[in-house]
Amino acid sequence: MNFVDALIGNDLAELMSKYDRPGPRYTSYPTAPLFSKDFGHEAFKEELIQTNHSENRADISLYAHIPFCDTLCYFCGCTTVITQNRERIKEYVKYLKREVDLLSSFTAPKRKVVQMHWGGGTHTYLTPSEILDVASHIREKFNFTDDAEISVEIDPRDLTFSHIQTLRQCGFNRISMGVQDFNNDVLAAINRDQGEAITMKAIEQSRSLGFSSINIDLIYGLPLQTIETFDKTLEKIIKIAPERIAVYNFAYVPWMKAHQKLINPEELPTPQNKLKILLMTIKKLTDANYVYIGMDHFAKADDELTIAQKTKTLHRNFQGYSTKAGCDLFGLGMSSISHFTTNYAQNAKLLPDYYRAIDAGQFATEVGYRMSYDDQLRKYIIMRLMCDLILDISDVEEKFRINFGEYFKNSLEKLQPLEEDGLIERNESHLHVTTQGRLFLRNIAMCFDAYLSKVSKEKPIFSRTI
Ligand SMILES: C[S@@+](CC[C@H](N)C(=O)[O-])C[C@H]1O[C@@H](n2cnc3c(N)ncnc32)[C@H](O)[C@@H]1O
Ligand code: SF4
Repeated sequence: MNFVDALIGNDLAELMSKYDRPGPRYTSYPTAPLFSKDFGHEAFKEELIQTNHSENRADISLYAHIPFCDTLCYFCGCTTVITQNRERIKEYVKYLKREVDLLSSFTAPKRKVVQMHWGGGTHTYLTPSEILDVASHIREKFNFTDDAEISVEIDPRDLTFSHIQTLRQCGFNRISMGVQDFNNDVLAAINRDQGEAITMKAIEQSRSLGFSSINIDLIYGLPLQTIETFDKTLEKIIKIAPERIAVYNFAYVPWMKAHQKLINPEELPTPQNKLKILLMTIKKLTDANYVYIGMDHFAKADDELTIAQKTKTLHRNFQGYSTKAGCDLFGLGMSSISHFTTNYAQNAKLLPDYYRAIDAGQFATEVGYRMSYDDQLRKYIIMRLMCDLILDISDVEEKFRINFGEYFKNSLEKLQPLEEDGLIERNESHLHVTTQGRLFLRNIAMCFDAYLSKVSKEKPIFSRTI
């Protein structure tokens, strides 16, 4: 049986409706709604001081958030500030650099930065000279390895050749481009005026300047999308041959992102059509020799993500899948999240609060979380299942000194219906996500989440799993 036939298996539509419910994407465990004010800027600083200078400290992965965009895409789930006032960007750049100074003053100079990601918002809404200013400031204050993976999310609509040249000059080697869809009706329905030629030009220019890896973001489940329109979009994407393709499940959360109410719900594809679009996508991309990594991500067979999955070194963080396991993640900018040792810390989500903290010479941590032993254990299980699709039970028992069957009696009970539905297989030594189970990774992980009922009881937060 080929991969897609195995995915479809029996009664997929029935299973999809059975398991379609709100659930986290597990870019962290515990998930962000559990972060609280009990872990603030003082706790963050203390943890930095205590962990930073110890021998063999982990390498560093930096994340910098730029919230600004020129116009609002109605689907957007990111933390953004829509403005045409360039003074606001200038002001932000100044604060970001001050935060870089603060963080670097608490970071042992020898520690190596092996990864940096700029996310948003839209970094290329900055002028090339602003990009140069921020990037060179960060590089001056931190010790980057020569082969550091340096990536940026760009919106082709705001991009000039000079932007791409500047990014290369600053050492960026990976680009992730927001495309979403090529169909003009879909683009109009999401308020994203991005003619195909704009994307093609951005890709051509990035390649000509030697970007070694290009990722393209698409979304399925957008208004007016049909199998036929999305099929045409995919045809064009396959011709472009990016190294990686992310096909995100549209996170429709109008109760959290009020602007999503600007989308006419009647124009959204039905769950049945959404499923057909997803299956067509998996078939089309795997036929074109992309490997389905899981959770919306596809990569070429020789891509590092694919190799990392094979060698079980794949890792999941706030940016999705990554090959850099074991780094301390430090977030810069409004709303960014840091994660190191057993802590999570999130910066203020509103600009005035972020600026106030930096003006006071403090870290901008607004909420955070200190993980318990149980959190670390559950995080390990969820991450291994989502990355490797298999869990070695004796490895977990040895690492965490537990009896798996006893400790996870409750979780295994929750897992049983998924087992009966053929989504996961269990024997003495392993849990194994089946081919069909790959479409239900979030549901499988949810069985090991100790906080789910607590988080979702308070208010609706998560998007639907399917
Ligand atoms: C943080 S955004 C920044 C990219 C850049 N501003 C752009 O739009 O091209 C990164 C990606 O997240 C995805 N995204 C944003 N909102 C989403 C949502 N509600 N559901 C699913 N994916 C979403 C889009 O594919 C987008 O390209
Ligand atoms: S999708 Fe990108 S460009 Fe559109 S509003 Fe969100 S961050 Fe800005």
